Amino acid sequence: MSKQTSRAVRIHAVGGPEQLVIDTVSVGEPGPGQVRIRHHAVGLNFIDVYQRTGLYPFPLPLALGMEGAGVIEAVGEGVTHLKAGDRAAYAANPPGSYCDVRVMPAMNVCRLPDAIDFETGAAMMLKGLTAQYLLKRSRPVEGLEAGDFVLFHAAAGGVGLIACQWARSLGLQLIGTAGSDEKCALALEHGAAHAINYRTEDFAARVKDITNGQGVKVVYDSVGKDTFDKSLDCLRPFGLMVSFGNASGPVPPFAPGILASKGSIYVTRQTLFSHINSRERTQAMADDLFAVVEGGKVKVRIDQRFALIDVQAAHKSLEARATTGCTVLLP
Ligand SMILES: NC(=O)c1ccc[n+]([C@@H]2O[C@H](COP(=O)([O-])OP(=O)(O)OC[C@H]3O[C@@H](n4cnc5c(N)ncnc54)[C@H](OP(=O)(O)O)[C@@H]3O)[C@@H](O)[C@H]2O)c1
Repeated sequence: MSKQTSRAVRIHAVGGPEQLVIDTVSVGEPGPGQVRIRHHAVGLNFIDVYQRTGLYPFPLPLALGMEGAGVIEAVGEGVTHLKAGDRAAYAANPPGSYCDVRVMPAMNVCRLPDAIDFETGAAMMLKGLTAQYLLKRSRPVEGLEAGDFVLFHAAAGGVGLIACQWARSLGLQLIGTAGSDEKCALALEHGAAHAINYRTEDFAARVKDITNGQGVKVVYDSVGKDTFDKSLDCLRPFGLMVSFGNASGPVPPFAPGILASKGSIYVTRQTLFSHINSRERTQAMADDLFAVVEGGKVKVRIDQRFALIDVQAAHKSLEARATTGCTVLLP
């Protein structure tokens, strides 16, 4: 029986990046349905910030991190899709990936194809599976076909650059927004058909121009408070507003009547964790992601690498909108 310990980044109180501390925790053997995985790289996600600040409340102390890649050290009873020695990657609950080694549920842990390195695996699971369900499983009632316009906010971020490339491969005309001209250039380079700097331009007016006054079939909005209202104005009649994040703050309550006056539009608030709620569904979505990455249609761009011990600096730059593409922490 191994009796090992691991460094784990935890918070003991909610608050700013200074709450992130490195603790030493004990790591046991995997129980039924669990695996023990030793990380080679860990993914940083905006959801980690929401958990740290308490926007998404959890009991404390809380070990942070929902994405990682590494090698399986041991599997518990009933786990048949993984074995010791396998390379693996995941996006999963409960949080706790910011560590060297952990025991966790096996359900969302997938074997990582040999052609995909650990850093890419750690960077792409949560963000890539999100792009997968947004583009393939969150559909407007009138359907979504090659040539259709969609609007994607924060297009130069982690989820954003993956979505730009995947949308291009589906033939969609993705209009991306981003917070600087450099970020807009990056979105265009990765497949956005148009890019709007929403710090300097009125994105709703630009969307109307680009679509000849028609509007888009879907808006994918992870920015939340700052963009929600104007995003509704970008939709065609019967269009779909997919709200999936709150980088600028949560969307305040609104009256459903506005959906009628804006063209009988639809609003949904999505989370990846409803989509990956079974082993079969997780694997099917992961296989779709692996195929576009292995086939070169989607390149996972890692623009920031931090040592695990520099996690506070990593959170600061993500929140300061100073990152592009994906960020990994290296144990
Ligand atoms: N619901 C789900 O299933 C799900 C899953 C994954 C991710 N998400 C959401 O998707 C978004 C992207 O996640 P990510 O991890 O890839 O992060 P990211 O896009 O790399 O970083 C967030 C980006 O949001 C933009 N932003 C706009 N206003 C902001 C503000 N006030 N503060 C900070 N950032 C602001 C910034 O880009 P600009 O400078 O270009 O504006 C920033 O770079 C996040 O909101 C996340 O919560 C949701």
